[in-house]
Amino acid sequence: MAYEHILVEIEAPIATVTLNRPKVLNALSPDLIHELTSALADLDADDSVRAVVLTGGAKVFAAGADIGDMADRSAVDQLSRDQTGRWAPLAGFSKPLIAAVNGYALGGGCEVALMCDMIVAGETARFGQPEINLGIIPGAGGTQRWPRTAGKYAAMEVMLTGAPLTAQRAHELGIVNKVVPAEMTIPVAERMARQVAEKPPLAARMAKEAVLKAFEAPLAEGLASERKSFYFLFATEDQKEGMHAFLEKRKGVFKGR
Ligand code: CAA
Repeated sequence: MAYEHILVEIEAPIATVTLNRPKVLNALSPDLIHELTSALADLDADDSVRAVVLTGGAKVFAAGADIGDMADRSAVDQLSRDQTGRWAPLAGFSKPLIAAVNGYALGGGCEVALMCDMIVAGETARFGQPEINLGIIPGAGGTQRWPRTAGKYAAMEVMLTGAPLTAQRAHELGIVNKVVPAEMTIPVAERMARQVAEKPPLAARMAKEAVLKAFEAPLAEGLASERKSFYFLFATEDQKEGMHAFLEKRKGVFKGR
């Protein structure tokens, strides 16, 4: 598929997807969302890709949903096209997904970053939910993912004031893994992706699933699910390879089987 609003670069075992509507600060139009979620579905199905970096490039991550597209929509329009529901393939992406954020990650842009598994932020990055200034609230998970990751009070602050947080503050709150000089954001995220891509992919997938379960399930259910995945991995060739490679003092070669 040829893309107009994103760039997809595969350098197996990783891929980098770049949002590419610079004139409107990567505003998340329906066409961009369609292209991004289609690209992610393809990358999820591509066995040569084991981890993905999602970025907006050097200057901006994304300034949110496309306000021009939404301004005159009715509630019925919004409900029937369910634009925020269209993010499901991103939230449900099975492989490790790392956001590389420079500049603004606002509104839907911030929510997209929060749907990723790790976030590398450039020193210039700003994370915020300014929807309140537009008479709406976040609609792609912000009101749920912020309190679950940064806590109630930081969540209230970003939702109610609409003011963005610096990369450093986001790091202190635990929603950013690393803060790096802006020019290093993408290389550092790609380095992390390569590090993850060396791991046995089924174990990576199950680890991701298990951690995400902690946000959804009561503890007993999460622990039961973790245990089943743990036992299941003993049915994989990669578990045998990983443990024998350790015992034989060599580096494991993992096939995702
Ligand atoms: N939608 C559409 N266009 C946008 C946009 C958006 N979210 N954000 C920026 N743009 C456009 C601007 O209209 C402008 O276009 P023109 O050059 O044609 O005028 C261009 O991008 C550059 O923007 P600015 O001139 O405003 O740049 P700036 O550096 O002065 O300010 C900014 C940057 C603070 C990010 C400012 O653009 C801004 O506040 N943008 C809107 C942020 C926002 O409210 N996001 C939430 C959207 S709602 C949402 O996301 C809902 C949801 O949860 C799903």
